[in-house]
Amino acid sequence: MAFIEFKNVSKEYRGEVKVKAVNDCSFKINEGEFVVILGASGAGKTTILNMLGGMDTPTEGQIIVNEKNIHAYDYNELIEYRRHDIGFVFQFYNLVANLTTLENIELACQLSNDALEPRVILKLVGLEDKLNNFPSQLSGGEQQRVAIARAIAKNPKILLCDEPTGALDSKTGQMIIDLLYENCKNMNMTTILITHNARIAEIADKVITIANGQVESIKTKHDRVVEKVIEPTTEEVPKKKKKKKKKKKKPVEVI
Ligand SMILES: Nc1ncnc2c1ncn2[C@@H]1O[C@H](COP(=O)(O)OP(=O)(O)OP(=O)(O)O)[C@@H](O)[C@H]1O
Ligand SMILES: [Mg+2]
Repeated sequence: MAFIEFKNVSKEYRGEVKVKAVNDCSFKINEGEFVVILGASGAGKTTILNMLGGMDTPTEGQIIVNEKNIHAYDYNELIEYRRHDIGFVFQFYNLVANLTTLENIELACQLSNDALEPRVILKLVGLEDKLNNFPSQLSGGEQQRVAIARAIAKNPKILLCDEPTGALDSKTGQMIIDLLYENCKNMNMTTILITHNARIAEIADKVITIANGQVESIKTKHDRVVEKVIEPTTEEVPKKKKKKKKKKKKPVEVI
């Protein structure tokens, strides 16, 4: 059984105008996988992540995590789930402005029974020199790394990242993606990442593409390797020509 399973999940926002943000989505994610969710703006990606993180509820369908339907959790169970099982990296960091880098991490660690050592994680993200800086004294990339360290330090089973590189330059963005990937594999921390950047998807174990609230495609690393092998038909043309030349030479040699 998959570690995470969305079974025909829909989410309708019922304001003045009804919006079906997520429409009959089904997919599975295995434990320890690095999964990328791709899709255009408004496709429903954040809504999916928020439902998986227990911050929003589906109007239809089931979300199974570790063999339990999280939609059926009561208030306290949901708090426990969010506290212990989920680490969330928000797009715009959401750091506590009047706490230092270290204090932001320590605060999150206090919520968890199984937290990692804050200083060790801050070293991992390259911020050991910025422990006493307040968020306003950090660059955008550094703040994002604090947000990631905060989510990882809780040692959650599932790490959810909403556009973690959206506001970063490409070099810092790549560094953060490498960090998330290594953490996922070293800690066996199932990691689900929303991005608009198709290049990031290249390293993912699974790429789920969402369009208009629906799953457009699900591709594993294996599927993408097979596609790459089949794709370059143009390269086969010169190869065939070379073979023909060899065939012409053979009768000459025999004679
Ligand atoms: N709380 C809400 N109330 C009403 N409509 C909402 C709410 N949250 C999201 N929506 C709508 O649901 C749809 C999907 O939104 P969502 O935030 O999931 O998109 P997204 O794929 O994350 O987009 P982006 O890439 O721009 O972040 C959008 O049309 C959005 O306007
Ligand atoms: Mg979004």
